[in-house]
Amino acid sequence: MSIAHGIRTLGVLGAGQMGTGIALVSALRAKVPVLLHDRSPEQVKKGLSLMDRLLSKDVAKGRLTNEEAKEARDRVSVVGVEAGIQGLRDVDMVVEAVSENLQLKQAIFSSFAAELKPEAILATNTSSISITKIAASALPASVSAASEEGKKIASRVVGLHFFNPVPVMKLVELISALQTSQDTLDRARAFAVACGKGICFPNPLAVNNPLCDFHATEVTVSKDVPGFVSNALLMPFINEGTATREDIDTTLKLGMNHPMGPLQLADFIGLDTCLAIQQTLYEGTRDSKYRPSLLLQQMVDAQWYGRKNGKGFYEYD
Ligand code: CAA
Repeated sequence: MSIAHGIRTLGVLGAGQMGTGIALVSALRAKVPVLLHDRSPEQVKKGLSLMDRLLSKDVAKGRLTNEEAKEARDRVSVVGVEAGIQGLRDVDMVVEAVSENLQLKQAIFSSFAAELKPEAILATNTSSISITKIAASALPASVSAASEEGKKIASRVVGLHFFNPVPVMKLVELISALQTSQDTLDRARAFAVACGKGICFPNPLAVNNPLCDFHATEVTVSKDVPGFVSNALLMPFINEGTATREDIDTTLKLGMNHPMGPLQLADFIGLDTCLAIQQTLYEGTRDSKYRPSLLLQQMVDAQWYGRKNGKGFYEYD
C-alpha cells in the first residue's frame, strides 16, 4: 500500500544546482507548488534559467508538451530576500539545500523550525553531516530535547539526499536521525517516490505517464553515519592519488564502467563540497582513508572549485 506524503506545498531553501534540481523534480514529477528561496537573487535567477533550459529541452525532445512544461514552471514561485526564510512558514515540507556547512544549517533550522506547521517535515539535502545534530538544532533555546514539544519538533527532521544532476540521477538517500519518527520517514520516502525517485512499475499501459517513464529508481534508507552510504563509498576514490588524473579517471571509466572518472566527478560536485564532506567523514570516523589529501586542500585554498568556477582537476570554459 502506498503511503500519502501529504505535501501540498514544498519549500526549497537554496537555489544552487541541488536546490534547483529538487524544485524542478518536485514541480514536474510530484506536481506540488514549490516556494524557492535563496539569500542571493543572482543564484535564484541562475536556477530559474537552468529550469527553463531543462524544460525546453524536454519539450524539444518530445518528452513533455508545452503545456506540461508551463504548468511545471508555473508551480515554482520565488520567495524574495525581503520575506526571507520566514516566507516558507506555511509549507508542508522544507528541503534545505544550502552549502555543506554545519553551522549554516544549524542556524537555518534553529531560526524557523518551531514556526512551521506542527506536521511539517524538515528535510536536509546534506551529503554527509549528521542529521541527528541538525535535528537537535531545530529546537528553540527555550525548548528541551526531552520535552514533548522538543521531541515532536526533532522527530520531523530527516535526511533526503538527492544526487546531481537531480533530474537525471536515480537515487535518493533517505537518512533517519536518532530523533526521526517513522511517520516522517514514510512521508519523506513517499515524496521521493512521487518525485520519480521511487520504484516504477513496468506497466506497459503507463508509457505515456511521466511518473512511470521517468527514471526508475531505488530509495535507500541509511543510518546516520558520517557520509551515509554514498559518500563513505565515493570519497576514497576521490582522495586516492595513485596515478595521473587521466589514468585514475580512465581506469574507473573503462575498467569499472563509471560514467565519469572520480576526479572529473569531484570537479562536477565541487572541490569545496568534496573537501567539506571529507572533513566531516574524517572528523566523524578518524579513519585515515577519509583524511583529505593535501592536494585537495590546497586546490580549495587556491579557489579551484571545479566546474562551477572553471578550474579544478581539469579546466572548463
Ligand atoms: N541538470 C540536468 N540534466 C543534466 C545536467 C544538469 N546539470 N547535465 C546533464 N544533464 C542531462 C542532459 O541534459 C542529458 O539529458 P537527455 O539525455 O535527456 O538529453 C543527460 O543528462 C546526458 O547528458 P550529456 O549527454 O550532456 O552528457 P553525459 O552523457 O556525459 O551525461 C551526466 C552527463 C548525466 C552528468 C553523466 O556524466 C553522469 O551520470 N555522471 C555521473 C554523475 C554522478 O555521479 N552524480 C552524483 C554526484 S555525487 C552527488 O551528487 C552527491 C554528493 O553527495 C556529492
